[in-house]
Formats: sequence, structure tokens, C-alpha cells
Amino acid sequence: MNLTISPGAPLRGEASLQGDKSLSHRAALFAALAQGESCIDNFLVSGVTRAMLDALTALGISWELRDRRLSVRGRGLAGMRSPLERIDCGNSATTLRLLAGALVAAGVSAVLDGTPGLRARPMRRIVEPLQAMGVEIEADEGGEAPLKLAARLPGRSLASIDYTLQVASAQVKSCLMLAALAARGTTTLHEPGPSRDHTERMLRSMGVPVEAGKREAPGLSGPIITTTISPIYPVELSPLHMTLPGDISAAAFLIVAALITPGSEITLRSVGLNPGRTGLLDALRAMGADLQVKGLSEVNGEPVGDLIVRYSSLHGIQVSGPLVVRMIDEFPAFAIAAAYAQGPTVVSGALELRHKESDRIAAICQELDRLGVKIAETPDGFRIQGNTPPRSGTVQAHGDHRLAMALAIAGLSAGGPVRVRQAEIIAESFPDFDTMLLRLGAHVKREE
Ligand code: S3P
Repeated sequence: MNLTISPGAPLRGEASLQGDKSLSHRAALFAALAQGESCIDNFLVSGVTRAMLDALTALGISWELRDRRLSVRGRGLAGMRSPLERIDCGNSATTLRLLAGALVAAGVSAVLDGTPGLRARPMRRIVEPLQAMGVEIEADEGGEAPLKLAARLPGRSLASIDYTLQVASAQVKSCLMLAALAARGTTTLHEPGPSRDHTERMLRSMGVPVEAGKREAPGLSGPIITTTISPIYPVELSPLHMTLPGDISAAAFLIVAALITPGSEITLRSVGLNPGRTGLLDALRAMGADLQVKGLSEVNGEPVGDLIVRYSSLHGIQVSGPLVVRMIDEFPAFAIAAAYAQGPTVVSGALELRHKESDRIAAICQELDRLGVKIAETPDGFRIQGNTPPRSGTVQAHGDHRLAMALAIAGLSAGGPVRVRQAEIIAESFPDFDTMLLRLGAHVKREE
């Protein structure tokens, strides 16, 4: 499918977004480990969460999805069975890394695998600490999927560890926290940055003692975050009853869309505003964005609020340090804002972007260059000259849902239409993307 967005119309109106992707993955999986029936409203129904639900089926867990309400019948940590075939995690590293931790907690054997894109993503970062806990797990020679996990003998617990993550990563942290449910004693994880803490909040709400603290470290650009998890034997997780907030990482595209399209004013209802996810809002405000939060409250342990966004004249900024991890998924959308800004924008310290659904540094630079944006790749980021808004053109999605959406919104104020090829990948995380933009007034065309 090709998606073409043409310039012209301002975006106006209100939208409510689908449930947050990170929270949807966690809620489905943690509910499967809980004892009893969980009910999750505003669940994200998309490609990546389908991979998670199919994996639960393979593990013998029953669930039901009606519209956006997911019910899961959890049977406790010991209630999962070893799957008969390898589990296909599709293109989703969150599915694979979180499942690895949950399967370790459940003590079952499994092979976790996925698309060639997923097989290219680094897995040593979970395999090594899991091995240090006493888990029998192996990656392929390059340290990538497929991951082979052996069953644990009944009654055997794992060793708790005190471990320093090499990169700030909520997926790695969450994998190890889930595995820690099968370890005796306290597991302590140190992270070089403030990654999203959804797992901490959700496990706490299910009755697991989790604490977090931070300390400044000499020579580092940000604080070290330390998380401890001290499960109480026998571990029994209470079921979840929650409504998921709208996905701020999906909202990111609509926010940037409104900021760059003259005459726009949109309201996005009930968006998740976890501080580990709001880096883009801080960056855009520093660029001069007119962005307001209204009705901030806490819903099921997560901050939620409405966002009001108006067209703004933006200027370039520098992004580095802890802000990078707080907006790690938002660089494709951010790059579009920077392309429309006055003056240069420089992103550094963002090497992790090379390990996402695509090498996002290379892919953003290659595709924006095709649209005439003055952009230069650096080893750990990119530099956009500013004052060179995109021109009309055809671009590639690189199998990356966020890149596809970012390039599509680039067309809203460009010199002419922007056509994104193989845009069906957008359905991995935001199946309503084009219809929502249409409803807000954008000129969007799908060619199947
Ligand atoms: C996620 C964590 C981030 C993020 C991904 C979702 C999560 O990955 O990029 O989209 O749900 O924990 P890393 O942990 O690899 O940074």
C-alpha cells in the first residue's frame, strides 16, 4: 500500500488515540501471569500486539478481545505450558524481550523468533544477564534471535542479581524484572538513563514490591537509575482492571502534524504522559511549540492528560543526554519538526536509534535527503540545517512503522505531495493513522 499526503488543509478537531503500545504489551502479558481474570480497556489492536496475543495462545492462555476490551484468564506463574512450536514475535522486539522474561518466570521451554528484521536486533543484552541468573538460554552466534530457552526444574529458583545495563532500555529492564519473579531475594538493576517505568508501576499495582531511585554519577550526562524488585514467595500477581491511556508515541505524529501545518489546532484526549515518554513534548516546547496539557490526572497508576496543539513557528535545538531516552521512539517525528524549523537542530548520543525497527539514523537521513531536506548523518545522531522544508517526492518506509508515519506527515506542508511506499507497515502500531488524519482535515490518499 502507498500512502500519499498532500499539503493544503489545516488540521482541526479532536481525537482519542488507541491504547499505548508499551502498556498494551505489558497488560496482556502480565495478566497472563496473574491469578484470575483481568480486563483491559482501550487495548491497542495492531500488528505488534497481535503477535503478543498469538504467543499467549501458544502458551495455553485463553483471552478474548471485543472491540478494544481484552479479557485474559491468568493461571498464575506456573500456569503457562511450553509451546509446541517456535513463537513468532513478528517484527516486535518488545514482544520478544518481554516474553523471554515472562517465560523464564513461568519456567517453560520455548524458542522465540521473528522476522529477519527482528533477527537483526541485539539480544545479548538480555541473554547475558539471564544467564547470570542461572537461566539456560542461548542466542544464535551473532547474539540475535532465535533465542532458545530451556525449562526450569520444578521447585528450582533463580539467583537474584545486581546488574548494570549497558544502555538505558525499558525492554531489557522489564525482561529482567519479570525473570526476577522466579528469583529468591532482591534483584537490583542500574540503568544509565531514565527509561519508561511502566513495568514498575504495573507490577506494583499487582502486588510486587518494586522501588526506584536515582543518583548523579560523575562523568555521565545523566543520573543512574536503580530499580529493585523483591518478590515475595510464592509470587501471586493480582489481576488487572484498567483502561489504557492513548499512545503518546502515536500522538507524536499528530502533534508534529499540527505544529507544521498553518492554521491547525487539535485536541488529543487522554494521552499517557509517563515522564519516561514525554521527552518529545519537552523538545518541541524548547523549539517554541504551542503545546498545552489540560486535565492532568493519574489513571491506574499512569499520568494521563489532554493535549492541545496549535500551529507554531519552530526553531532548531540540540538534543542529547537523558532527553534522548525519554523520546527514544520519537526521533522520526521530531526530525520532521526540525526540518520545518528555522536554524539548525543537532541530535547526539542517540546510537540506540541504529537498533530500532530500522537503522533510524541512516533511514531518516536517506529519506529526508530524498525530499530535499539538508540533513547529515553522524555516528550517534544527525544534524538538520533547518529552513529547508521538504519538497514533493516518493520515499521508502524501510519496514519501519514510525519512519513511514513521519515521512507521511512531512507532506502536510511540503512543496507538493509526499508518497510513502510500503506504508502498510503503519498497521503494526497505528492502524487508524490515515483515517484519523483524514478526519482532522488532512489530504490523505491510499493506493492498495
Ligand atoms: C519499549 C522500550 C523501548 C522502545 C520500544 C518500546 C517498551 O525500547 O523503543 O518501542 O515497551 O519497553 P528499548 O527498551 O529497546 O529502548
